[in-house]
This record gives sequence, C-alpha cells and structure tokens, in this order.
Amino acid sequence: MRQTSITTLALTFLVLVICHVQAVASGAIFPGIEWLDTQSHPINAHGGGVMYHDGVYYWYGEYKGEFTYRSPGVGWDCYRTEAGGVSCYSSTDLCNWTFEGVVLEPDTTDTHSDIHPTMVIERPKVVYNELTGQFVMWMHIDNYNYGKASAGVAVSDSPTGKFRFIEATRPNGQICRDLTVYKDDDGQAYLFYSSEDNSTLHIALLSPDYLSVTRQYTRNFAGQFREAPAVFKRHGKYYLVTSGCTGWDPNEADLAVADHPMGPYTSLGNPCRGQDADKTFYGQSTFVLPVAGTDQYVMMLDRWNKRDLITSRYIWLPFDFDGNEPLLPWRGVWSPAAANAQSSPLGADKQ
Ligand code: DGJ
Repeated sequence: MRQTSITTLALTFLVLVICHVQAVASGAIFPGIEWLDTQSHPINAHGGGVMYHDGVYYWYGEYKGEFTYRSPGVGWDCYRTEAGGVSCYSSTDLCNWTFEGVVLEPDTTDTHSDIHPTMVIERPKVVYNELTGQFVMWMHIDNYNYGKASAGVAVSDSPTGKFRFIEATRPNGQICRDLTVYKDDDGQAYLFYSSEDNSTLHIALLSPDYLSVTRQYTRNFAGQFREAPAVFKRHGKYYLVTSGCTGWDPNEADLAVADHPMGPYTSLGNPCRGQDADKTFYGQSTFVLPVAGTDQYVMMLDRWNKRDLITSRYIWLPFDFDGNEPLLPWRGVWSPAAANAQSSPLGADKQ
C-alpha cells in the first residue's frame, strides 16, 4: 500500500517535471500552460504582438508588475499592476523565446509622465517602417480608472530598443483603448482601436512614418462594444478577430472579414471550436501571427488571471481553414508549420 502511494507520487512528480520541461525547451507550443523563456523564467509579455524581421520573430508585450491591486475608488473590476513597460522576447522557431529586456521602460522619475508606473501601458504592437528605417510601437495608455483612454507611440532604431516614448494622444480627438496595428503588403499601416467608450471600433490610416494617425478613419461595429482587435490577411481578404467587452473576464470571440483593412467588415461569427469555444477557451484575442513562408496563422490569446495578472497565461492556436473560412479548434499541443524558417518574402510581407 505504502509502496503504491510512493510510486504514484513519483509518477505524478515525473509527469509534472516533463510538462515543465516541455514548456522550457521544445519544438511545440502548449496553449494555456506556463511558458518559460530560454532562461527558465515565465514569459512576461501580455496583450502582446509579434513582429517578424530579418528571420527573427520579436514578441512584445506588457511587462506586468508583480503585485495586482484594484484601483481604489473605481467601481468596476479595475485590477491592475504597476506599469512595467514593454518587454521583448526573440525566437527563430516560435517555441523557444529569449528575453531581450524591457525595451520601453516606464518613466519612474516624472510622476506626470504617461508611462509612469502608476499609469496603464497595454497591448503594445510594433511595426517596421521601410521609409524611415525605424521600429514604431503603438500602445494603449491609460490612467488609474481608464479615463485617459489614449494611444501612445514610441520609436527605436533597433527591434530590441530601447524605444523612445514620443506622446500619448487621442486619435482624431477620439477615445482609444484596446488597440492593434496592422501593416499591409503595400506599406500602409492602420491603427485599430476601441473608441466611443468602447462601443465602436475605429480604424485609422497611419501617416507614412507611422508616428501619427491621418484624418482618414472608419467606424466599425457601431454600438456593438468590441475590443481586443487582431488582424490578418489571407488570399486578399482581411480578417479581424475581436472580443466582447467584459473587462478581464472571457466572452465569445467574433471573426469578421473585409476586402479592405478599413472595412466594411462582415461578421462570420465565432471561429472557436470545441470545449469552451463560447468563452474563447477562457482567453482574449491580442494578435494573429502569420508564420513566415507558410499558410499558417497563429491566434494569440491572453488567458487573464485578473487577481494575479502577472500569472496570466498565453494561448496560441493555429487557424484551420474550411475552404477560406478560418476556424480555431482547441489543441493541447501543436508545432509551428515552418519553425526555423530563416527568411521568407511571404512572411515578411504578411507582417
Ligand atoms: C479588457 C482589455 O481587453 C484588457 O486589455 C484590459 O484593458 C482590461 N479590459 C481592463 O479591465
């Protein structure tokens, strides 16, 4: 009897060690399981996005502070951590990620700074500008009660920073919260952001240097309260994944399609399939990553742990295609299609 329990314990321990090691170094992705970097530290890059540049993937995300607290005096579930800036991890195979540091550091000296640790820095996305040779980062900047609702922009000469924060503004005077940036094959880039108190998703064309928005923008999903936008292009169509607006709690995703990045978009419904599909597998969209040189597109989701945000997990899942319709079935483990792809005109263009 005693022998049996010892054996059971030993086996359980072995399984735990194997799961842990799989997350450290492997050729596979394990959605929802703690993901360690190449130094065996949990990856801290939430609400992130990936840029592919010169054969390397760079994953940028929110560098969450260690302690989660609730903003005092704010009625809703306003859980947050200190804004720790934006982290960057690099990889050539999408499975093993090396920490490149905090590439946009919070400003700890100026209490009025938009990137002071008491502020909110969320959903950073980086694109490379061929005209200026600079890397441009857009992010959601907010204050303790999410009333500032602005878009921040920063710039760097190198993908691993340091990025220099330029400013936080309201695009065309409009509220901006959850956002993403999409760069098209023709070099035009667009800022997608929840606006009008989150009720309507705006899409604004960026200036040629990507450092500001132009006056050209469209209003999408008016009155539908969509957030967490993530965009990809396949076979000439633009696909836009969004979540509903329920704070840190999961809800049902929507996938919409258009012939132009600025819309109009037509909803195709929830792309998720399998158990908990109606809750997006307890995740929320942040980015769709096209795997270089392949027809694989990876949905990046955050599984938020609102009471301990730094331990929020990542759910990365590849889309299946039913004809041209993107579907997102759950997978416990999978491998990227073209891991180790060093260069690819297709992949580079798709960013
Ligand atoms: C939902 C957003 O998608 C997150 O990025 C974050 O802003 C939370 N709301 C805050 O409640």
